[in-house]
Amino acid sequence: MRILITGGRGQLGRDCREVFAGHTVLALDLPNLDITSEASVDGVIDLWKPDAIVNCAAYTAVDRAEHDETKAYAANRDGPRLLATRAKARDLFLVHISTDYVFPGDRPVPEPWVETDTPAPASIYGKSKLAGERELDVEGVRHAILRTAWLYGAHGYNFLKTILRHAVREPSKGLRVVNDQYGTPTWSRRLAEQILAVVEAQAVGLFHASGEGWCSWYDFASEFIRLMGIDCEVRPCATSEYPSATARPANSILENAALKRAGLNRMRDWKEDLAEYVSRYRDALLREARG
Ligand SMILES: NC(=O)c1ccc[n+]([C@@H]2O[C@H](COP(=O)([O-])OP(=O)(O)OC[C@H]3O[C@@H](n4cnc5c(N)ncnc54)[C@H](OP(=O)(O)O)[C@@H]3O)[C@@H](O)[C@H]2O)c1
Repeated sequence: MRILITGGRGQLGRDCREVFAGHTVLALDLPNLDITSEASVDGVIDLWKPDAIVNCAAYTAVDRAEHDETKAYAANRDGPRLLATRAKARDLFLVHISTDYVFPGDRPVPEPWVETDTPAPASIYGKSKLAGERELDVEGVRHAILRTAWLYGAHGYNFLKTILRHAVREPSKGLRVVNDQYGTPTWSRRLAEQILAVVEAQAVGLFHASGEGWCSWYDFASEFIRLMGIDCEVRPCATSEYPSATARPANSILENAALKRAGLNRMRDWKEDLAEYVSRYRDALLREARG
């Protein structure tokens, strides 16, 4: 199969490129492929003739989006709309990645969000991503939407890399991490394997795709620092002690209910995945954190 990956330089895009290696893959990012530009998208599709598109491109700066609505909606709504029209016209299978931020996060922990729950995003980022999902919901577009959460990988920036940088540069200071927001950490490589399973099955639908189990950011950080073998104290704190431009969902635990029903769930327990991530990338992560 010929698979075109958009946002190919991003955290997930780079893992998709590695994991899809058994297929013919083209991974592009700005400026070579801009999903908001008709000329750019048509140029690549006409020339390369993919069978499937995996859209990893997005505006992902959650706080910045609050003041940059136009750019957030361009990449997160208008881009998917353009890809959907081309997928329909050329009968391509389209996979789009969405987020836990489509939910308000206001249900008791650990009650998870499932695909049939009504979204009600609280942030511009979440609203723009939900608008993007809706652009795909057009008759004749063969598509899958995978909502994921708390993504971390070897490439790009993520929460774990920030934690590690502080832990190795100023270990005696310790770390304070919020312990009242809960979710499902997701290894981008595992998600890439999940996406490939969906592409190969051409499974149409809305799927939650995040790590199995759940935890708080504090639990996530503590487990990571323990696995990395770093002597740095991690202390819990409350969201109210950490002012932020954007309201973060308190409960963004996703349940992979639709993948399980379809017999397609490839996601694993978040602690297992974190351990594999650390065993694969420990040295590279430390080098990057030390700068
Ligand atoms: N990271 C998370 O914790 C998380 C959680 C839930 C869901 N998600 C979703 O998962 C997907 C992948 O996220 P990620 O962490 O891999 O994001 P990422 O590292 O920010 O990668 C996104 C890539 O898309 C590119 N891009 C932005 N606008 C584009 C455009 N108009 N045309 C083509 N490419 C464009 C970005 O380029 P620039 O960097 O140059 O802008 C970047 O390389 C996104 O849909 C995101 O919403 C992420």
